[in-house]
Amino acid sequence: MSRPGKTKFQIDLRRHLREHEVDDNLTHLICEIAEASKYIIHSLRTGELGVAGTSNLYGEQQLELDVLADRILRKRLDHSRVVANMMSEEMDEIIPVSPDCEGKYSVAFDPLDGSSLVDVNLAVGTIVSIFEGCDLLQPGRNQVAAMYILYGPRTTLVYSVGSGVHEFGMNSLMEYTLLHENITIEPRGSLYSPGGQRNLYTPGTEAFVTHLEERGVKLRYSGGFVPDINQVLLKGQGIFFYPHLKNLPQGKLRLLFEVSPMAFLIEQAGGAASNGHRRILDLQPDKIHGRSPVFIGCKEDVRLAEEFIRKLETDQTSDGGKKRQQKAAAS
Ligand code: F6P
Ligand code: MN
Repeated sequence: MSRPGKTKFQIDLRRHLREHEVDDNLTHLICEIAEASKYIIHSLRTGELGVAGTSNLYGEQQLELDVLADRILRKRLDHSRVVANMMSEEMDEIIPVSPDCEGKYSVAFDPLDGSSLVDVNLAVGTIVSIFEGCDLLQPGRNQVAAMYILYGPRTTLVYSVGSGVHEFGMNSLMEYTLLHENITIEPRGSLYSPGGQRNLYTPGTEAFVTHLEERGVKLRYSGGFVPDINQVLLKGQGIFFYPHLKNLPQGKLRLLFEVSPMAFLIEQAGGAASNGHRRILDLQPDKIHGRSPVFIGCKEDVRLAEEFIRKLETDQTSDGGKKRQQKAAAS
């Protein structure tokens, strides 16, 4: 007779974190975020779809749900006793929680990414980036954890503390239990998710897309960053990009709240993430709400995108690029 006991598929999030010897405070923090997501999913299912009548720092109209999701997460983090500083895509400034940095974490989050898809009932998500101590303006490689929660037909949670990427599904008791451990991505893929308007693509991105199409790569794009990245991770292949555009040299996505945590997760699965010139995780954020172009997914496909851009464009996406151009102009 087989011994009753927990199979791999009944391992819950807290137990998984404990088994991976994750620091107690970080375990508590990740579990608190998971708890907050249960209230966010409830608001999504039952809440008002109307606009809040306010706009965020980027001039984007906030939905009541954006404001609610932000409030739910903020409150939870505020009461967690393990947070030093936090900042949200929906807030203008860093919110100090505790002056004491020792043993504490600072958290950047996008409470409800892709919220403009809520009215058409497409998938949206919450994205979280975690640093040790008080400093949030650090390169993404210093993250101690990154995670997202995807509110799709099912609710799933994906996290990494720097030792692989793991997916959990919310069960009927609203507990997150392990679905996939140590997710990996192939070096090369057969699907692509292209963000931004194609007639605004610069020559490198345009040539890269033409190359993908000639290779027979299939377009699979939902318009939500979380489901689009989740597709690459769980299919184990593909590339997502929201590139620099002719009218938006830094692209659309926010480095600290969106791009950097996803880069951490994708690298942990063996993939790569670049702004077209440099590794995303090496970029030093100069301001809280800075943006970055992103090419993220299969390693070889990301390298290929960089190659097309290097051949056909000059680097205007980072300080490094600007400095190189100024140097060249002065010599
Ligand atoms: O906030 C960012 C976001 O909604 C992402 O979820 C998505 O990838 C992107 O914007 C879509 O951008 P656009 O509105 O330009 O299609
Ligand atoms: Mn967003």
